[in-house]
Amino acid sequence: MTERLIIFDTTLRDGEQSPGCTLNRMQKLRMADTLVQLGVDVIEAGYPNASQDDFDAVRAIATQAHGITVCGLARCNESDIEAAAKAIEPAASGRIHVFIAASPIHREMKLKMTRAQVLERAIKGVRQARARCADVEFSAEDATRAEPDFLIELFSAVIEAGASTINVPDTVGFTTPTEYRELIGLLRRQVRGIEHAVLSTHCHNDLGLAVANSLAGVEAGARQVECTVGGIGERAGNAALEEIVMAVRTRPERFGVHTRIVTPKIYGAARTLSSLIAQPIPRNKPIVGQNAFAHESGIHQHGMIADRSTYEIMKPEDIGVPGSQLILGKHSGKAAVRDRLGQLGYELHEDEVEPLMVRYKHLADRKKEVFDADLEALYLGVEPGDEQPWTLANLHVTTAIGNTAEPTASITLRTADGHVVREAAVGDGPIDAIARAVARATQVPFKLIDYNVQSVTQGGDAQGRAHVRLTADGREYRGQSVSTDVIEASARALVDAINRIVSVSQARLRSLKATGT
Ligand code: KIV
Ligand code: ZN
Repeated sequence: MTERLIIFDTTLRDGEQSPGCTLNRMQKLRMADTLVQLGVDVIEAGYPNASQDDFDAVRAIATQAHGITVCGLARCNESDIEAAAKAIEPAASGRIHVFIAASPIHREMKLKMTRAQVLERAIKGVRQARARCADVEFSAEDATRAEPDFLIELFSAVIEAGASTINVPDTVGFTTPTEYRELIGLLRRQVRGIEHAVLSTHCHNDLGLAVANSLAGVEAGARQVECTVGGIGERAGNAALEEIVMAVRTRPERFGVHTRIVTPKIYGAARTLSSLIAQPIPRNKPIVGQNAFAHESGIHQHGMIADRSTYEIMKPEDIGVPGSQLILGKHSGKAAVRDRLGQLGYELHEDEVEPLMVRYKHLADRKKEVFDADLEALYLGVEPGDEQPWTLANLHVTTAIGNTAEPTASITLRTADGHVVREAAVGDGPIDAIARAVARATQVPFKLIDYNVQSVTQGGDAQGRAHVRLTADGREYRGQSVSTDVIEASARALVDAINRIVSVSQARLRSLKATGT
């Protein structure tokens, strides 16, 4: 049986104090609820003496979060400890986390204190906290740049004063895995009373080593890891919760520990945080990034089709990610193209594969990603140069600020044989009005599911590229266009998508007729 690793989440304290990640009280409560559902053991909810807002947020979380420990941070002084104690009072299980800097740089430059003074302040702080709360954690800030003999003396003394968790912060992300493993091992062997306390890691990511260092600490016997969702935190961040949890879960034989985290809720937690702090999850982020379970290389796709374990060490569903994706692009090979066409309902005969792959590679060289509709068009023989079923001949859009008039679009479309169709529609906005007018004119029923415009050049006459995603007949289609007028670009993108729908359904019909089905 593996030992339990305590997950101490500091997203709402160390994470929230990083640039661009500030949360208001309601947002903190929402995130705290997500962390409870995720199954973290401890939520460090804030630094109550920092501001009234922080105090209120910690107290609100202590009141509402059940089944976990709620922790408040404090320096080793009376007013901080008092504020933390009051803030966590309503919690069924509360913790006060006191800290003081331990390294010579911090002692001399920041605190202007000697070793003896730091030691005395730490003992006093832990005693005061212990008088208010049974669960006290002590951190030696910048521990990885402190003298090891001082850490041993300091930690032995605070355990005697009542601390039950001993945290070893790599405050500036300075240490390396081997060094941190040795330090945790040394403390485990030499700190008096350590067998009655939990050793904890707290690693920052300045050199990109936060997770590796935390895991090295676990290998050396640490049984609490301090981390944040998505690794948000001061400067380059803290150790990412999802990476630690999935590392120990994927390699139990290596780490010999387990957590209480409900891993299928990891992806949802990362997305909740991302929307609260209004920062997208980077595409290449381990575990929760869009690319984490996406495969583009032909060799990898071939392996994945044969057996997922060839290129995936975790199952996406174990993290709550919707599923593995084989991204079709220029690196994809026959296996993936054939597989995707099969999923779309088209069985490729052996003699069709090579000619299709020649055309596929040609298309993939020009496009970043080949979508289902592109592949279907390719299979059905619709060439990009084919005459377009519809062309935008004229567009007039009116819109007004305030409730004075509804946005209206009048549109003129021309068919391939020169026939002209005019239509008009009102909508919730100009794009909605255009989409309705296009649907009426072409009589193609579709649902607009996504629309965005990006600037592709700079300056006052910048060109805008409009992208639309539609569904029609149960399939997804995309369209795009570029113009200096974003409304015109949007209308042309819609017509582009309609043309793909029409071309594919015409080709599908031709192919049914040819096969006599
Ligand atoms: O990084 C650090 O040293 C901290 C302490 C307050 C634990 O965040
Ligand atoms: Zn920190």
